[in-house]
Amino acid sequence: MFHQLSLFETDTNDSSRCFHRNIQKSGFDYQEINIGDITFKAGQMESVHRWYRLTPSYSPSLVRFLIQELQITKEHFVVDPFSGRGTTSIECQKLGIKSLGIEINPLLQQVGSKSLSWNTSSLYLFEKYLTEVSSLIDKFKEFSLEDVIEDLQTSIPIIHNVFRWWKKDILKNLIIFRQAMLKSEYYPINNYLWIALNQACLDCANIHRNHPTITFDDQHQRKIDVFTEVRENLGKIQTDLVNLNIEQVSFSELCSIQLGNSTYNLKQQINEPVDFVITSPPYPNRYSYVHQTRPQLHFMEVLDNVRQATEIDLQAIGGTWGRATSVLQKDLIVVPSEIKSYLCYYEELQSKSVLMCNYATKYFLDMWKHIKSLKEVKATRFRGVYIVGNSRLSGVEIFTESILGKLFRHEGFEVERIVSFRKRGGKKRLYETAIVVRS
Ligand SMILES: C[S@@+](CC[C@H](N)C(=O)[O-])C[C@H]1O[C@@H](n2cnc3c(N)ncnc32)[C@H](O)[C@@H]1O
Repeated sequence: MFHQLSLFETDTNDSSRCFHRNIQKSGFDYQEINIGDITFKAGQMESVHRWYRLTPSYSPSLVRFLIQELQITKEHFVVDPFSGRGTTSIECQKLGIKSLGIEINPLLQQVGSKSLSWNTSSLYLFEKYLTEVSSLIDKFKEFSLEDVIEDLQTSIPIIHNVFRWWKKDILKNLIIFRQAMLKSEYYPINNYLWIALNQACLDCANIHRNHPTITFDDQHQRKIDVFTEVRENLGKIQTDLVNLNIEQVSFSELCSIQLGNSTYNLKQQINEPVDFVITSPPYPNRYSYVHQTRPQLHFMEVLDNVRQATEIDLQAIGGTWGRATSVLQKDLIVVPSEIKSYLCYYEELQSKSVLMCNYATKYFLDMWKHIKSLKEVKATRFRGVYIVGNSRLSGVEIFTESILGKLFRHEGFEVERIVSFRKRGGKKRLYETAIVVRS
């Protein structure tokens, strides 16, 4: 069913041999496919996808490839239980295929959801909004940030060390944009203003741009122009909306992304049998989606208090920040005997680091819960593709794809094959693979 496009060069290094040996030992069919760049970078050039940069997202071309290979049509219902910035749903909507995304991070859920609203009727309001903000910026030119906050009856983002994130004059202009966006006359374009400002508030922060993880750039001398950033973002949005074809615009709202937790109760979150899953859950690599979206979570006022962020990270699969880490520092998590043999890292890792061993184990237990819950919503002829990456914790290789494959098989799914797409980020040891399952 999956057509082999071209094998990529045979790699003879140790970690690669180890990876292949592990797949062989697991007894899964294995295939290598090269469809070019499947990382977020490709999405940065594509309409709608480029409205938000989420570095761990996959490329729209990967979703299109899978839709074609799986022969998904307008008759089918596709679910992405780990929706991220909504790549799967955006591609489905472009093709008129009904889909539902579930996402635990409210910032990403809103990004995805707003990216699916396609309406060209009120775009003339962009210019009006920009003109109004421009005169407000002028009006408040000599005002301090505190005066503006008082005048506009708003507050400073509740993020720790807020002025390390944004210089005061930058924050002042960002806040002027944010408050103007709330006026009722801009309601028809509110989703687009939100998206443009959400991206701008990150690009105007004192951080290194285009890095996969956020780190402060305290010494930068970059000239930051909030107005230009927002205007350019709105320009991209306008171009993309105008260039969508009429049929695509009419698909608008065929797809949706809801806030939820995919580790349990999928039956209550999904109302019809799921024909296909195309998704990429977090990898066990200690990347915290909540931590990485903190500036926007707080600037866009998505959260009411700081504690909420750590709470979400605690619920999220692979959460690894603050309390999510401290709860893992305690006793070694006991693994149910029925799946213990699948967790091949366990013995070696527990002797090296209880924290890391618990981190990996919680990750797989959460994914196991997800697989069990999926059983309750899958259609009779279900097929799913899970894109995952391997990782190393305390020097111990975590063969994510084999372990998840075994968990799927344990729950009665057939693992059709494991497909290796390519090495991740040019690093020899990191792979991106797809676990292809069916009922
Ligand atoms: C690898 S990203 C998905 C990226 C997505 N494929 C894209 O292209 O944007 C994994 C996502 O799963 C979300 N997530 C983590 N735990 C979750 C859970 N229990 N339920 C739903 N979503 C969850 C994370 O917040 C993150 O956005």
